[in-house]
Amino acid sequence: MSEKIYAAPAEFVTRANVSGMENYRALWQQAADRPEEFWGELAEKELDWFEKFSHVFEWDPPFAKWFAGGKINVSHNCLDRHLTTARKNKVAILWEGEPGDQRMISYQELHRLVCRFANVLKSLGLQTGDRAIVYMPMIPELPVAMLACARLGVTFSVVFGGFSAEALQARIQDLGAKVVITADGGWRRAKEVRLKPAVDEALSDCPTVQHVVVVKRTGSEIAMQPGRDLWWHDLDTNVSDDCPAVPLDSEHPLFVLYTSGTTGKPKGILHTTAGYLLGNHMTMKWVFDIKEEDTYWCSADIGWVTGHSYIVFGPLSVGTTTVMYEGSPDTPAYDRWWRMIEKYRINVLYTSPTAIRALIRQGDKWPESHDLSSLRLLGSVGEPINPAAWEWYHRVIGKGRCPIVDTWWQTETGCIMIAPMPGAVPQKPGSATLPMPGVIPDIIDLEGQPVGDDREGFLIIRRPWPSISRTLWGDPKRYAEQYWQRAPGVYFTGDAARRDSDGYYWVLGRVDDVMNVSGHRLSTMEVESALVRHPAVAEAAVVGKPHEITGQAVCAFVTLKQGDWNHEELGRELRQWVAEKIGAFARPEEIRFSDGLPKTRSGKIMRRLLREIVTSHTVTGDVTTLEDMNVVTKLAAQHDED
Ligand code: WT7
Repeated sequence: MSEKIYAAPAEFVTRANVSGMENYRALWQQAADRPEEFWGELAEKELDWFEKFSHVFEWDPPFAKWFAGGKINVSHNCLDRHLTTARKNKVAILWEGEPGDQRMISYQELHRLVCRFANVLKSLGLQTGDRAIVYMPMIPELPVAMLACARLGVTFSVVFGGFSAEALQARIQDLGAKVVITADGGWRRAKEVRLKPAVDEALSDCPTVQHVVVVKRTGSEIAMQPGRDLWWHDLDTNVSDDCPAVPLDSEHPLFVLYTSGTTGKPKGILHTTAGYLLGNHMTMKWVFDIKEEDTYWCSADIGWVTGHSYIVFGPLSVGTTTVMYEGSPDTPAYDRWWRMIEKYRINVLYTSPTAIRALIRQGDKWPESHDLSSLRLLGSVGEPINPAAWEWYHRVIGKGRCPIVDTWWQTETGCIMIAPMPGAVPQKPGSATLPMPGVIPDIIDLEGQPVGDDREGFLIIRRPWPSISRTLWGDPKRYAEQYWQRAPGVYFTGDAARRDSDGYYWVLGRVDDVMNVSGHRLSTMEVESALVRHPAVAEAAVVGKPHEITGQAVCAFVTLKQGDWNHEELGRELRQWVAEKIGAFARPEEIRFSDGLPKTRSGKIMRRLLREIVTSHTVTGDVTTLEDMNVVTKLAAQHDED
């Protein structure tokens, strides 16, 4: 592989929060040699505590505790502590709705909104330890709701607005939520995405839910169930602006975020308070190199972990201006993002390879018709970025001036784990480069032995770090099995990777049955179990198929029950079926009908062979365990006919 190396321009390095490789190495070494001192000092200096912690780190494998004995509040750290500084009237959230409406909310005003909504939650009977589900469009009330929950110690779970009623119901039930916070709908591609009807459907079987709080965003006609459903604006009329943040244990559960695993049942990744906050706070400074005067934009949806950590908690903790956009990049035209960067003089942009590739396809004329000279740093997350997309991002968007931080991390890791500190670590397109301080990665083989440099293997992390997920909600056993037992005593990421002779990490993708579609994790099992619930389907096997824009696309192999089926019609119906069962983003791109699926003699579907068929259209791998080779030959031939 040709390896070009890009170092930051001198003026970037001079002003960087961490300048030069030596300084990066010194920080990393310090954290590796004396982790408790390193994190203890940062926690004390960078966060605001009600009561200091007594221990930095407690480790009862695989369960970690950080900063035990401390009392702290995330909402206080994101808001109150800025109000005694020049930041009090600085814009905290700079929001633009898709129709073009704007809101600029200062730290002081955000504090007021959060206090008022926390008082609303209290008036509905919510207390520390209760749970809330948040199912909202990208409007300011979404971070307000999250921060209000955090203020009271109400553990929340944000469910991405693209999830179906059924997926929402499963999450409400698993969490045992008392309240659902939602909106009538939101705007995307100039159409309303309705949310409240999905909540109504989900609540048909959610006995724990006492109230639904509804923001009026689109003004469309919705049903309000008397006694249960309440308008946000009605509740907001009679509450005080003052609501003290509750001093919470460092390990108090902050939020649960459901993500796909290798079974049909989503995993509730639990993050707690102090360690999660510290990880996000530090990586805002180390990776995004945040300066007081920056305007920072992460284009993710808050429904995914990227939005939690890098739209809400990280940016507000360091006191930056965080931009939030409701809608789609192509509305009203493909220059929407570039227009916003020009208009708000945005300095740091954090987005995904899938978005970059979609924008490349529209041509350079869109970014070129705008002044992007305010940009000084670019970021990428969600999947490996292909070097061609990296180069385009660097040249056409960054005009060759802006370093690119390719950030590798996961819902479970809470914050960025491997990424360049842009003023210190030169970049190689396609590599997430070097680990953050406190992160000790390695690459191992099936026996758990390190493979050494330039060899592929499983990416693992040797020691816990402050923002690591503490457990799976209600399922500590699955947590231990999934992450700590594949290779005993180390954190198993589920990714394959290679480390080169400069120590740079190249993440290659998942090693399990998890697909990555547009940077969103989706399990093959989840889609399969949706498909087999359709009355016509006998069996289904799902694999990720390489896709130019979304990285992977869902490809489903389906065998049907006896009957006279119209394949074209049924294909359409099944794609829609999956969208209804899980969400539109899970809709298979392709359904292939077949008489049989390749199986081992013990009856296990060999997805590996199907993956080969959709990737290279032939099968070259080991087929000795295959029960019936004919099935594979037919499937491969079927593709050639298409
Ligand atoms: C998986 C985690 C954490 C943010 C969004 C996704 C892949 C993520 C990169 C990157 C290569 C990446 C991995 C990882 N991934 N960022 N910069 N380079 N791969 O969160 O849904 O928890 O998915 O996304 O495969 O395991 P997630």
